[in-house]
Amino acid sequence: MQQLSEFFTLVQQRVNACMQYKLDSLPDEPQELKEAMKYALLLGGKRARPYLVYATGIAYGASRRDLDYVAAAVECIHAYSLIHDDMPEMDNDMLRRGQPTVHAKFGAATALLAGDTLQALAFDFLTDDKCRIVDEVKAKLCGVLARAAGFCGMCGGQALDLKAEHQHLEQDALEHLHRLKTGALITSAVQMGYMAARYEDAYRNQQSDAVAHALGFVESPQLNHDLELLTVYGQKVGLAFQVWDDVLDVDGDTAVIGKTVGSDEAHEKSTYVSLMGLEKAKAYAQQLSNEACEALQGISANTSLLEQFARFCVNRDH
Ligand code: IPE
Ligand code: IPE
Ligand code: MG
Ligand code: MG
Ligand code: MG
Repeated sequence: MQQLSEFFTLVQQRVNACMQYKLDSLPDEPQELKEAMKYALLLGGKRARPYLVYATGIAYGASRRDLDYVAAAVECIHAYSLIHDDMPEMDNDMLRRGQPTVHAKFGAATALLAGDTLQALAFDFLTDDKCRIVDEVKAKLCGVLARAAGFCGMCGGQALDLKAEHQHLEQDALEHLHRLKTGALITSAVQMGYMAARYEDAYRNQQSDAVAHALGFVESPQLNHDLELLTVYGQKVGLAFQVWDDVLDVDGDTAVIGKTVGSDEAHEKSTYVSLMGLEKAKAYAQQLSNEACEALQGISANTSLLEQFARFCVNRDH
């Protein structure tokens, strides 16, 4: 059985190389913008979302090389979300991954543009000609990622997060917020890994126009079954990931998490710790992690790396 830490190393090597190559292939000017993008994308970060893309895609037989582009795409959206999240208009944080935040180092205008450019770069990755996933599947992946990043996903969640400052939210409302701001992108990483493998497979093995047309609309019951369970897994693990992020903001060590501990309380954010207290938030994260693993039980593919990830999410120190 492959272990999580070993797999994380593989993921980091692959996705970093893919992102480095793409950035190196861009023109040198505008230089400051390029520097800010590199800074946000390549200096640190766990690569949790790429882990999910590769773990799921490999379990269903996708090639690592094709998954590189999918993993890089989701990581670009994540990196962009962090740049904007840290800006004074949002969380006003000065430390990220143990270094000054992008706006602190490059100024607000460059930070805004670096975020915008990374968002565009995500779709550049997904439509890269060197990625051999068929065009119909690539288009589908673009849609999944766009929806996870947009109004009904990360951006909508960030808006709810800002609106909830200095407010008391009930658990339902907080769960909705967390599912959007963090859960949606994490869920999309799992879905895209799966779709890159299975839709590709279905497409290559059945060439008729009718099948090509049906792709992604009328899948076999088994395909739908696994995608539904993986989606439940992604939602549970995505929520657990953010609950634990809230825990680390109180219980973590600034030197280890690379972010300023206590930032949520200072900004009177609505978090799981503010809602239920530290110990209950930790227990709730564990429960979600268990539920994520239960969803994997109905899947016949090898989900060991996904299970290990669910455990890691709620035990991590950074
Ligand atoms: C932090 O995400 C922001 C959240 C959505 C919780 P990560 O904890 O994945 O941050 P990095 O990429 O490892 O720095
Ligand atoms: C971030 O939530 C969610 C994003 C979409 C970036 P947080 O604001 O809690 O993330 P950190 O703690 O700053 O990484
Ligand atoms: Mg935030
Ligand atoms: Mg923040
Ligand atoms: Mg946080």
